[in-house]
This record gives sequence, C-alpha cells and structure tokens, in this order.
Amino acid sequence: MPSDSKPSQSTEVIHEAVQTLRDGGLVAFPTETVYGLGADARNVDAIKKIFTTKGRPATHPLIVHLAAPDRFDQLQVDWVPVVAPWVRDLSEEALQLMNAFWPGPLTLVFKKDKSVLPELTGGQDTVAIRAPAHPLAQELLRKFKGGVVAPSANRFGKVSPTSAADVRHEFEGILDLMVLDGGDCEVGIESTIVDLSSGDRAVLLRPGAITPKEIFDKTGVKVFQAGEDFQKGDVLPRVSGSLKAHYAPTTPLRLYAPGRVLDALTEFPDTKSRVAVAVWDAESSLGYDGRPSVSTAEFVVSSDSTSFASKLYRTLRDLDQQGWDLILFPEPPAGEEWDGVRDRLQRACFGSGPSSSSHSSN
Ligand code: TXA
Ligand code: MG
Repeated sequence: MPSDSKPSQSTEVIHEAVQTLRDGGLVAFPTETVYGLGADARNVDAIKKIFTTKGRPATHPLIVHLAAPDRFDQLQVDWVPVVAPWVRDLSEEALQLMNAFWPGPLTLVFKKDKSVLPELTGGQDTVAIRAPAHPLAQELLRKFKGGVVAPSANRFGKVSPTSAADVRHEFEGILDLMVLDGGDCEVGIESTIVDLSSGDRAVLLRPGAITPKEIFDKTGVKVFQAGEDFQKGDVLPRVSGSLKAHYAPTTPLRLYAPGRVLDALTEFPDTKSRVAVAVWDAESSLGYDGRPSVSTAEFVVSSDSTSFASKLYRTLRDLDQQGWDLILFPEPPAGEEWDGVRDRLQRACFGSGPSSSSHSSN
C-alpha cells in the first residue's frame, strides 16, 4: 500500500458511510482495482439490495472485503484473526499468499465458516475474500469493523467503474447512492481470483494484475489454470466474470490481429460509418488506406500491460459516450502479463453492442 497516498474524504464523510453500512444501506467506495458497491456482509437485506441494484442473478457470489490489522507491515502482519471468522480452515499456502499479496488485488476463495450468509455466497460452501489496498477502502473497512461485500459498482454485465464519476453515471436516475471519491483506480481491472477451497491445489478463477508467475516467484505456490476437472459437477456460475459476455460496452467492440484492421472493418461493410481504432503506442499510425464508406479515427493505447489495464475501462466508457459505430482494439500479445486484459477484452467484445446488452444486464 502506498504510504504517501491519503484518503481524499473527510472524517465526517467516512463516518456517514460507516453509518449507512450499519443501517443496511449501500456505499460505493474506491479500491485499487475498480470501485465497489459495498454492503454489510452480515446483513441479509443489505446483500439482497446489492443483487437488485446491480440486476445480478442471486447465484453469483460476492467478495467479502476485510480491513488489514491496524498496524501492519508486509512481513509481520497476522492475517489469521482477520479471516478466521469467515473461513473453515487456513492452509499454509493461504497464509503465504496473504502475507505476500495482502492488502492488494488478490481475492482468495476458501471453504466458508458456517456463519457466512448463503445469500452472499450464492448458496455455495465457499467464500471469496480480499483485503483491498486503497487507503480509503481500508479506512472505511477499519472504521466499519466488519466485512463488506462489494461487487464492482456497475450494472450486471457492464464495464466496471474506475472513478467516482463512473459510478454516479452508472446508477443515475436508478438510485441515490453514496459514493466515496478516492480518485482513479490504479490497477483498473478486477482482482485476480485464486481458489484454495479444494485444499490440494490452488486454481486461477479470474486473471488479474497479479499473475500465477508472480505468485510462484514470491511464494513458491503453484497456481493452476481452471481446467476441465475444476468445472466437474459444478453447475453454479462460480465467477460471474466467467460468463462469455461481461464487462461490455454498448458500442460493438472487436479485436483485430496484427496488421489486419481492414479485415476487421470488412466485417461491417455498409452500416458502420464511424470507427474508433486503437493502435499501440509503439506504432505511430497503422498506415492502412481508409475505406470510402468508413471514417476511422485512431487513438493510442499503451503497449505496457500494466498501463493498458489501468486505462482499459476508462477508455471503453469514454468511447461508449462518443457515439462510434464500432470500436477496434488490437489483440493483446501473448504472455501471462496480458491474460487479465485479454480476458476482459474478449468478454467485452462478446457482450458488446446494443442488441446483446439486454441479455447481459438483466
Ligand atoms: O477487484 C475486485 O475484485 C472488485 C473490487 C470491488 O474488489 N470486485 C469484484 O467483484 O470484481 P464482482 O462481484 O464484480 O466479482 C467477484 C467475482 C465474481 O465473478 C464471483 O463469481 C467471484 O468473484 N466469486 C465470489 N465468491 C466466489 C466463490 N465463493 N467462489 C468462486 N468465485 C467467487
Ligand atoms: Mg463485476
């Protein structure tokens, strides 16, 4: 956690947010990944409000956000008393991951303690937990003195918000929501999710900024990709981001292979007239000949995966507001550091466009 970054909200505002949570209300707050829509994790009615507000199916479990101990240092912090009320058992691997990456953009899935509400876990016997690094999130959680469930603060299936203004825009006219403003989210895509609940192997459920390689390098813990065996007998959508369509803009979005912008444009021969084309910052221009029926505008995206991720949702939201007929992004390169971005972009493509927005948002 950056020690020099200060929460930007006054004590009174935090106090009001804590009171709102205690009263069973919802509070949107910043995390280092994306903004969350928070509610008291021990209050059934508050949890139900999250599902109705987002339009999220009740079977999609939520992440419990917890405060780091008051005084901590990455090497000495004792996470056991923090997670103990929520989980059934803690493996050595879990302790290693928490010590190495909490607070931070890593969510861990455990077998749940029996006190954890089934409404929160979508009826599953596991619970997802994370300690976010954003100082304002930490201050809220410390003062609330309890777990806060917080899905990304967007309507179901839509692009996650990375600023307070995005959250307000998302729920405008739907809900008078308290939003804590902690500035733009640094990481920009949702946390990495690792499932430790099987007890034998750690499994990656959602790629994010923290990669299996980084986990292995720091802890020696091997994280497996979610494979066939993981899905066996599992009919519940354990990770809503695992639906094919998710994180989606209303404007159609497609990826193009290196040098193949024209191919992507040909998919939309007549009807598409204004096309926004993302190009890598390393290439000043794609140099393709524009087609007479299509007017294209290029904009630059970072060829560094971390900066790309931090701007991805911001860019998608802004482009969505600008009235393009089609958005084209370059396919992210191979390499684990791009897995989180590739995952979000592919799902965003699949769910994008006005016609498919209804199936992913209700
Ligand atoms: O970065 C993040 O994780 C953000 C910020 C706000 O913390 N939160 C977030 O929440 O992305 P949400 O609800 O949009 O995504 C949580 C994901 C869902 O895909 C859900 O299915 C998965 O976590 N999840 C929650 N509980 C789980 C469980 N018990 N087993 C497997 N997956 C679980
Ligand atoms: Mg989400």
